[in-house]
Amino acid sequence: MHVSLLIGNNIIKLDAVDSTNTYAAALIKDHNVPEGTIIQAIHQTMGRGQMGTNWHSQPGESLTFSVILAPAFLRAEHQFYLNMAVSLGIHEYLRIKGIVATIKWPNDILVRGKKLAGILIENIIKGNYLQHCVIGIGLNVNSKSELMLPMATSLLVETGHYFDLDAELKLISESMDSYYTALRLQKFNSLKQDYMDRLMGVNSAVRIKMDKEEFDVKVVDIEISGRIVLNKLNNDVLKMGFKEFEWLY
Ligand code: BTN
Repeated sequence: MHVSLLIGNNIIKLDAVDSTNTYAAALIKDHNVPEGTIIQAIHQTMGRGQMGTNWHSQPGESLTFSVILAPAFLRAEHQFYLNMAVSLGIHEYLRIKGIVATIKWPNDILVRGKKLAGILIENIIKGNYLQHCVIGIGLNVNSKSELMLPMATSLLVETGHYFDLDAELKLISESMDSYYTALRLQKFNSLKQDYMDRLMGVNSAVRIKMDKEEFDVKVVDIEISGRIVLNKLNNDVLKMGFKEFEWLY
């Protein structure tokens, strides 16, 4: 059966670029880009991570790409459902490969407690709705452990074999496409349930650091705003935004 995908229907592959997210944002501004277009870089020279960090990867070794979406149906206050759909798409791609992953709120993908993929979502909002989104994904594919940060891992490290980057990009696009379809159909409850089921800290306590203090918490909810709700083991409830605490896992 031929299934026509939105995500990955058009791929712009660049030999070298500073950041695929920056390139995608400029493209949206100046051109009419078809929804689902992927900007892929063989060599990303100034990859950007969450909270102003850098994202490094060796040229030609891993996947660094951005997906351009136009979810004009999505209200701005529901934008965290897009984060959920993207994390779930990558999680599902790994599950199909037999790799057990967890999602670390808001959207890191961990395997055996180490980071395999990072996601940087940048939204353009018009009025009450999203207009465009740039979903930047860095996935460590053929990286050897000695060339990565100690808390990072790759498909090579997890499976012992090398992968063809283009073939993997196609598989990820397919998984992301199916969760994006669920988002377009506004299946918010099932997206949230799937996200909670795969989230680190839901079934067992995790240690966090806040205001120089360390303690164990369990994740009890994610609010529509994207804030995480944590229970301290003494049952105190904490509602936290993105920069308000640090995971110690
Ligand atoms: C993070 O975990 O901090 C997010 C990392 C996101 C990295 C990807 S690589 C492709 C895209 N272009 C960028 O500049 N960043 C994202």
